[in-house]
Amino acid sequence: MSTKRLRTEIMRAEQAVEENRVSTSQGRLRQHYHFMPPTGWLNDPNGLIYFHGNYHIFYQYNPYTPEWGAMHWGHAISQDCVHWEHLSIALAPSEEYDTYERGGCFSGSALEYQGKLWLIYTGSTFRNGKSFQTQCLAYSEDGIHFTKYKGNPVLEAPPEYDPADFRDPKVWRQDPWFYLICGAKRNGFGTAPLFRSRDLFSWEYMGTLMESRGEWGSMWECPDLFRLEGRWVFTFSPYGTGERKTVYMVGDLDCEKGKFYPEREGEIDWGCNYYAPQTMLDDKGRRILFGWAGEWDWMPWWSPQKPTKKEGWAGHFCLPRKIGMLPDGSLNFCPLEELKALRGKSRRLEMLQIREGETCSLPEGVALEVQVVVDLEDTDAARCVFTFRSAKQKCLKVVLDFDTGELLVDRREADEYSKGCSRSSFLPTNDRKLDLHIFMDQCSVEVFANQYRTVHSCNFFPAEDQTVNQITAVGGTVRLRILECWEIKRIVI
Ligand code: FRU
Repeated sequence: MSTKRLRTEIMRAEQAVEENRVSTSQGRLRQHYHFMPPTGWLNDPNGLIYFHGNYHIFYQYNPYTPEWGAMHWGHAISQDCVHWEHLSIALAPSEEYDTYERGGCFSGSALEYQGKLWLIYTGSTFRNGKSFQTQCLAYSEDGIHFTKYKGNPVLEAPPEYDPADFRDPKVWRQDPWFYLICGAKRNGFGTAPLFRSRDLFSWEYMGTLMESRGEWGSMWECPDLFRLEGRWVFTFSPYGTGERKTVYMVGDLDCEKGKFYPEREGEIDWGCNYYAPQTMLDDKGRRILFGWAGEWDWMPWWSPQKPTKKEGWAGHFCLPRKIGMLPDGSLNFCPLEELKALRGKSRRLEMLQIREGETCSLPEGVALEVQVVVDLEDTDAARCVFTFRSAKQKCLKVVLDFDTGELLVDRREADEYSKGCSRSSFLPTNDRKLDLHIFMDQCSVEVFANQYRTVHSCNFFPAEDQTVNQITAVGGTVRLRILECWEIKRIVI
């Protein structure tokens, strides 16, 4: 019986986790406050939902090794979206439609319906020499133990879509219908087909929500669609668009015609390591975004994450971000308020001048939060350079280049493994100020700028002695209106 097979597969996977949990937890590169798996490999966030008083996150998980393969759904809950408790694995490959070593239970979403927690995921298998993907359901009464629906799969690709690239369903309810979009490929281009259903079991194809004609790549992964401030926001992770890996569009949706009309587009994250984000709505009405701090080998700054793999794990989530809409219709992404609970020792300085050749030191260590407001009126330097985790010619640099108007996160000399320098522009406010808010953890940095409109998330793998952090000015003086920093407490994740 299939429920028995699922339980057996979950028990087998959990035994593997138990065998490696303690040795992995001792890894030097383990993050201090970012969500990561107890051991093994993590990629996309899945099934994000606020259910019965808890935040639930699920994730693409290989519990056996720190390499991608035979995807399971890991599961954790939290009361504050910051401190997480790992729960039993929710889904494991156990059926013909979701068992394959280069497939498994792929990404998807969650919803509450008739008191149950429903997961809708992609069963990824191999048939007739080809990868074959369909959409499947699982449900739970207690939010912990799941049963796969006996009528799976509930949705196969319509004939014009490639069944090898038909995945990552996002479902939402708009009475009397459930709607579903997924990531797909048609005629070699990325697209998002839309479906509707009255019961979650039988689905009617409505058309193509939107599609690429080349400008948005050859395949869209992990689409999401939600309402924000009376508008609709569509997000996806395109394949084959160079450095543009996570995109948002703000516009209108016509459910009857099955069409999305974009009016504005933007980047969810400009960093080297951010992919496949997904959102959830919480009980406070906040739209919260989680993304995988990772990359695939076809991406421009790919590195094989060797150092953490040696410790038995790979992958973490970026910090949870609350999505907001600014008056011009652009989105911003603010680190959740609850993260302030992690702040330890702090320092605040006002009206600070850093002249060429001087250094302003920041607290030493690996887990740090830094917030600055730069006063451009009184700044005549060419660059303001934050050097994080430096020792022996190695360091990660966050650079405000006043000559080019660019914000750079440069990890070309950060360690033995990382490459690449992510770039975006910065936008001074009307009164000529620039804001930066930086979170550093053991092996990652997240830089928020431009009233949180611009974010760069990058991983790096510093050596043990790389603990010095400071700010310098190049080619003149930098004036900081405010400099505030906090050491961040380590929590067990
Ligand atoms: C995105 C993705 C999804 C897929 C999953 C497999 O990172 O490729 O499209 O469902 O990862 O792990």
